[in-house]
Amino acid sequence: MAGDTLIIEGLAGKKRLKGSIPVFGAKNNVLKVMAAAALIEGESSFTNVPDIADVASMARILEGLGAFVSRSGETLSVNAKELSGTVVSAEIGKSIRASVVLIGPILARLGSVTFPHPGGDVIGERPIDIFVSGFQALGAAYSHDGDSHTFSAPGGLSGGEFFFRVVSVTATETLMMAATKAKGPVTLKNCAMEPEIGALANFLASCGAKIEGAGTPTIYIQPSVLSAPQKPFRIIPDRIEAATFLTLGALAAEELTVTNIEPSHLDSILEAFSRVGVLLSIGKDSITVRAPDALRPARLRTHEYPGFPTDAQAPFTVLLTQAEGESAVMETIFDGRLNYTAELVGMGASIAMVNPHRAIVKGKTPLKARDIAGPDIRAGLAYILAAAIADGTSKVGNAHLMDRGYEKIEKRLAGVGLQIKRI
Ligand code: EPU
Repeated sequence: MAGDTLIIEGLAGKKRLKGSIPVFGAKNNVLKVMAAAALIEGESSFTNVPDIADVASMARILEGLGAFVSRSGETLSVNAKELSGTVVSAEIGKSIRASVVLIGPILARLGSVTFPHPGGDVIGERPIDIFVSGFQALGAAYSHDGDSHTFSAPGGLSGGEFFFRVVSVTATETLMMAATKAKGPVTLKNCAMEPEIGALANFLASCGAKIEGAGTPTIYIQPSVLSAPQKPFRIIPDRIEAATFLTLGALAAEELTVTNIEPSHLDSILEAFSRVGVLLSIGKDSITVRAPDALRPARLRTHEYPGFPTDAQAPFTVLLTQAEGESAVMETIFDGRLNYTAELVGMGASIAMVNPHRAIVKGKTPLKARDIAGPDIRAGLAYILAAAIADGTSKVGNAHLMDRGYEKIEKRLAGVGLQIKRI
């Protein structure tokens, strides 16, 4: 196993975790507002910024383009006054998918952008055809040379209308950002509606952008004059982290309170918990969960927001291995996002893949410890959950993938009683 490994003493089914665990700022919000800061000829500051590897990668990309990035505790500032580079570093760009959202701001501000094909990802194909047709609809020319793509619009982007063939989070975000600098009004239809998109629009609005409808399927953007925001922008809580910690609580907690969250972003997850029989006490910005004596099976189908998030599917599938009866998991967003289940089977779970998008889970099965390595950040967390309830000591490798999205993960989990350490 490459890099750091987490060693976890399983609880062998006992419900021992107790206390409270804080959720940090959302990875998929901070990376996007950092990209948006590239639109601004001045300094943008953000608070509640998690200390995760992807933020450091995005900072390095921005610095490579001429921006200054500084960090003090939970506050991060990006000053893009001198932004001049139009080529996104191939080396870093390939390692972080979110770098693709930078193309809109750079293109809109500097008239062209060249970027690497987003890195091959274990969760499935990550095409960019929607980005291509979207920017073309706003008047940009597109060319590519092997793995390097270029958009150019030397006279600026035009206004226009674009319908997303597939709902895409990063394509919605990058086009919305670019559209603020277009010469005419832009209407985007069939947009993604994730809370991170509304949050990004709020940040842009604080810089003077005229955006309506973010968080609904249709977003209208008027030509805007952008300037440095007056106040720091607070990153929204990470709803995937919240869902993952709540799932851990549903599996193994006497009583676990997940704090610093926004319960209204978790509707589909809370609904799924109630179907399987997990009781929750929901507060204003926290939720308390206790592992029930028995869990009911369920059919789970991932869906674009406000449906059940693909990023919370792997942890929830671990929960379903502990439900009495037959559950079905349908992954609708990415082709490779059920591959991690093979390792759960190795731990004793009964999971049969019907096809790459559908798995049948039969429970309840006790899990036994195993040495495993997560293929992506979300599956890595699912393995931590599986190791936490297993009988024996597991080694979960590829901790560097979890560090991309989860700050101090072992420290926070140890804080609620999990025996976990990093080597
Ligand atoms: N798609 C296309 N063509 C495109 C773009 C996307 O066909 O040009 C397809 C994808 O293949 C996929 C679907 O559209 O089947 C939806 O993918 P989307 O573009 O929404 O995914 P993304 O924007 O690349 C973001 C998050 C993911 C999260 C997905 C879905 C970021 C940086 N990433 O990815 O988060 O799983 O939305 O909610 O925001 C993670 O954080 O671990 C992660 C993978």
